[in-house]
Amino acid sequence: MNILCAYNANIDSINHIDGQELSRMLEESTEFQDKFQEKLVNPPGSISSKSDFFAGLLLCMRDGTGAEWLIHDKEVFEWLKKTFLNDSLMRMGGNMGIMANVLSELGASKVVPNVASLSKLQASFFSQKAIFHPYDGKLYNSKEIGAILPANNNRPELIHFVFDFKKGDTVNFSGDIISVPRENRFIATYDLLNFQLHLNEHFRDYSMKNTAEMDGAIISGFHMLQEDEEGSEKNDYKLKLDTSLKQLQSWKEARKDLYIHVEFGHFSSGKIASYAFSILSPIVDRIGMNEDELAMLASINGMDPKPILAMDSVAIAESAIKLCSDFGLCRMLVHTREFALSVSCRTDDDPEKTINAMDFGAGCAAAFACSGKLTDRGELLTIASNIPKSEFGKAASSKLAKHIEEEWKCSNTCGIHMSYLVTIVPTRICDEPVSTVGLGDTISAAIFLRELELNS
Ligand code: GLC
Repeated sequence: MNILCAYNANIDSINHIDGQELSRMLEESTEFQDKFQEKLVNPPGSISSKSDFFAGLLLCMRDGTGAEWLIHDKEVFEWLKKTFLNDSLMRMGGNMGIMANVLSELGASKVVPNVASLSKLQASFFSQKAIFHPYDGKLYNSKEIGAILPANNNRPELIHFVFDFKKGDTVNFSGDIISVPRENRFIATYDLLNFQLHLNEHFRDYSMKNTAEMDGAIISGFHMLQEDEEGSEKNDYKLKLDTSLKQLQSWKEARKDLYIHVEFGHFSSGKIASYAFSILSPIVDRIGMNEDELAMLASINGMDPKPILAMDSVAIAESAIKLCSDFGLCRMLVHTREFALSVSCRTDDDPEKTINAMDFGAGCAAAFACSGKLTDRGELLTIASNIPKSEFGKAASSKLAKHIEEEWKCSNTCGIHMSYLVTIVPTRICDEPVSTVGLGDTISAAIFLRELELNS
């Protein structure tokens, strides 16, 4: 399979933050204590100071939620580098970067990524199997590209700080003890290029000329777009989105059956999320997202987000279908920690292929979670076979089976509900994940590749 990938790749600096360390840092940071309490009540949602950073991290740990907050102040970024970079694990980051590596490791033949800042360090994190970087009209694999890049190419290193925390850990803060209800991660991101959906010129040229030989495209990074500064009417995010949409349309014109999957991501602005969803829906073949992202879109559109966040499979299926039919999207894939659920307007899609692909994706993501590494599919599936299926996911699957209007005979739950074909599979749960970051990208990319293969 030949696949185009855009837009966001970066470097993740992965840190395991433990409660004791955070308690100590909070105690030592006397300079902002007064404003801090206020930020826990009214979260700023982005980072302009050290106290904003600590508030975001503590809130995620308190609630067991995941979030990504953008850093607006370079000094905070420099402080994070000084404090955390040396002891961290650096690896591929960015939804698109992670998905491109998954496709390459799992056996795609040619994976061509858009890389906003192609530094030698960034290049070193790309898979060496099937990734090809366009550069001055030629393609180079990940081993070759490092040597081709000029020594002084002065590319900024786009480093995102990921803080993984564990279930059951405790943080002492202001005399209270906060206990972490669920493992998850908080990401602090300073990234001037991916914030703008930056298009690498070499990728743009390559994709314009070669779409006809591609089977699919996997797209993400829209969630990083920002609202205009106060007072400005430029609507910069709209321009960026409209430009991207034109690019996707031109690919579809060059190849009508190019299968385009968009991975939605965690938007900091509901306004941008709605706009992105509404313009992408009629053009792309499927949009993937997790339950947090679905809940945000659902609540903007007048639906109750609570049962979605509680991972109620019926509420998830119905809100996904409602969003699809209201906005003209044909397929949506919702991936949660416990199950993956797909809805499709094409009732002639083969549900067994979808179930096969979702099982495959769930296995690859669980093996990646447990081992922290991507390897070839045989090895990943062997690891996965020893990872138990989610009990919650199995129950969610039975609940959906009872509710759908017309249940079909399938190897897992499938059938017709509200005129859409619905399928669900439980995931596999790794109890001690090396990291939780990128698991949604991994499951989506693996499902995408397997479906392309099964439908070819
Ligand atoms: C976002 C973050 C990136 C992380 C990715 C994981 O794109 O910016 O740092 O690797 O999410 O899904």
